[in-house]
Amino acid sequence: MTQYHTVIAGGTIVTGTDVIRADIAITGGQIAAIGQNLKGEHRIAADGLLVLPGGVDTHCHIEQLQEGGGADEEGWVTGSTSCLAGGTTSVVTFSTQFKGGGILGPLAEYQRRASQAMVDYSFHQIIADASDDVIFREIPQVVAQGIRSLKVFLTYDALNLDDRAFLRVLAAARRTGALVTVHCENYEAINWRTKALLAAGLTAPKYHAWSRPSMIEREATHRAIALAELVDQPIQVFHVSCPEVAEEIARAQARGLKVWAETCPQYFALTADDMDRPGFEGAKFMCSPSPRDAAAQQGMWRMVRAGTIDVVSSDHSGWSYDTPVGKRVNGSDASFRDIPNGVPGLASRLPLLFSEGVVKGQIDLCQFAHITATNPARLFGLHSKGSIAPGKDADLVLWDATKQVTITNALLQQAIDYTPYEGMQITGWPVATIRRGEVVMQDGRVTAQPGSGRFLARGPYDMIRPTGQLPFGFDASAFEV
Ligand code: URP
Ligand code: ZN
Ligand code: ZN
Repeated sequence: MTQYHTVIAGGTIVTGTDVIRADIAITGGQIAAIGQNLKGEHRIAADGLLVLPGGVDTHCHIEQLQEGGGADEEGWVTGSTSCLAGGTTSVVTFSTQFKGGGILGPLAEYQRRASQAMVDYSFHQIIADASDDVIFREIPQVVAQGIRSLKVFLTYDALNLDDRAFLRVLAAARRTGALVTVHCENYEAINWRTKALLAAGLTAPKYHAWSRPSMIEREATHRAIALAELVDQPIQVFHVSCPEVAEEIARAQARGLKVWAETCPQYFALTADDMDRPGFEGAKFMCSPSPRDAAAQQGMWRMVRAGTIDVVSSDHSGWSYDTPVGKRVNGSDASFRDIPNGVPGLASRLPLLFSEGVVKGQIDLCQFAHITATNPARLFGLHSKGSIAPGKDADLVLWDATKQVTITNALLQQAIDYTPYEGMQITGWPVATIRRGEVVMQDGRVTAQPGSGRFLARGPYDMIRPTGQLPFGFDASAFEV
């Protein structure tokens, strides 16, 4: 009988398609076999536990460079620690472009910083300035380095692209074989409403939600889809907050377009009312798009079950509550316009989704594995990740499905000094995280070494190949315009 290096014995394996009682054999950091009574030099007992694919978080902000200098408070060591504490073993984070600058220089700096990672990682390349040099010279070089996704924002002063710039990015992606991910909110509409709110003296955190009601997200999503269809370029819409936006995506999918959707735990667990806390407290819950209401949360679960929503990532963003560089960077009485957007969530992503989703009967175990690991890996070309099958990296989480936990920020082991979920009672928690066959977290103790994470270079893959359906059969992306 074959003797493997390690066998995880007695657990219940969950994949995107099956739940089975079997052992997993690991050799050379990869899954070698799945079966009964497998034998290994080392045995990890998983009796009574679920064995889930290691979480794949394809949208999180880690050590992102700030325009004025410096980087996010959440660095690679703390960010990786938090990922492993919460059962996530791979991430796709960001390399930023600042307007007027290039992308190759910053990418080298991001790669240098990520050499401290303890999870496996890749980047999305943010395009904030679609200059000729970036579009025609730098993007092909970035994609050739295995960065096979570009990120654009249709809002934010520092990042937004107008339609022409967005079209140029879509065309560049089509030429080079990359996926485009999009933050969909209407920049001008938000600015217009924000000016009016400030003029009316309505500046508290809760007015963040008033500045960007759902039609602002819906309009931008519709526009992004239409422009992507014009270019015949696959896109993923990031952080969909509510069903009326997801319906735009469902319509596009029904037309056969390659449009995928991501949402985040905050859109199941928070509402706009959370920003209406006394004083500055509401800033803890401020992210864009804004959390909506209880009906939207229920609608989003329906959209997950219907398969419209493909991915649930954290959108972890590096702003502490009590430090001078975080939410209070513009003072503790800053208007909602001047409070940095984003909520933390690397470690809370899987437990929160498990408890709110699986335990409460909104989704089943296979759907959970699908949206937290399998789909993110497939959609972003991380072929060695996201599932439990021979030949895949042995990235696994041993999960106690009955453990009751009260969330505290300390449990999450992140640099950010708060969690929006403090005090929430949940059921289900990771007991151990295994990365490429090595136990790197056991009972909350993370033992991975800085620098042990690997860069995941992403080559071409079928899923993001254009459909070939072009208006009048004319491929405008073939021209350098
Ligand atoms: O509010 C958010 N989502 N902040 C993070 C940056 C982004 O828009 O993804
Ligand atoms: Zn965004
Ligand atoms: Zn983000």
